[in-house]
Amino acid sequence: MRKGFIFDLDGVITDTAKYHYLAWKDLAESIGITIDLVFNEQLKGISRMDSLDRILAFGGKSDDFSQAEKEQMAKKKNDHYVRLLEDLTPADLLPGVKEFMAQAKAKEVPCALASASKNAPVILEKLGVLEDFRYIVDPDSLAKGKPDPEIFLKAAEALAITPQEAVGFEDAQAGIDAINGAGMYAVGVIEEGPLTGADELVHRLDELDIEQLLMK
Ligand code: BG6
Ligand code: MG
Repeated sequence: MRKGFIFDLDGVITDTAKYHYLAWKDLAESIGITIDLVFNEQLKGISRMDSLDRILAFGGKSDDFSQAEKEQMAKKKNDHYVRLLEDLTPADLLPGVKEFMAQAKAKEVPCALASASKNAPVILEKLGVLEDFRYIVDPDSLAKGKPDPEIFLKAAEALAITPQEAVGFEDAQAGIDAINGAGMYAVGVIEEGPLTGADELVHRLDELDIEQLLMK
């Protein structure tokens, strides 16, 4: 019996993944590295600094920059990303999210957010769904990022449920691996492409029957 829902943000609640990609692509170009959408899959669910490290490794430039330079680059990427978020409104919720959250609320199923993004609270506010989340994990409080299960375990603890009572929702492989590592029921949300290890795959959240999901 499931008692709580734990959501990833980028790619599950809203399509901010495309803005992360644009901002990283721009930053990478500025230092002579070209990334594409295939490579970008590896950045999903990964923290800001770890994403930068992966881009530098991809371009063979891991040892070319000091820590201070890397922090400057990460800031530049984030400033660009935050500018791209400016016009975000409730219309940018992914299809089915509003309906699914309303059903969860009606059934009094507590929801938490397990996103690696430090921008998550601002994004939820702009989308008009901040109040729907009882708890948002602070990524700065984590020792390890996804695929480590820590972020999902923290969210379950905050909801006062066991991992076995939680359902996790993810669009990224690192996230599905984290949910599985936590011992939760994993729902993969994808348009297309591979995502392995999920208990169930959907294109949009309102394809799910909440009653059935709670019985898993
Ligand atoms: C995750 C995204 O949700 O957040 C990653 O999937 C991103 O692509 C990470 O790097 C960190 O986000 P932010 O907003 O703190 O840079
Ligand atoms: Mg995601």
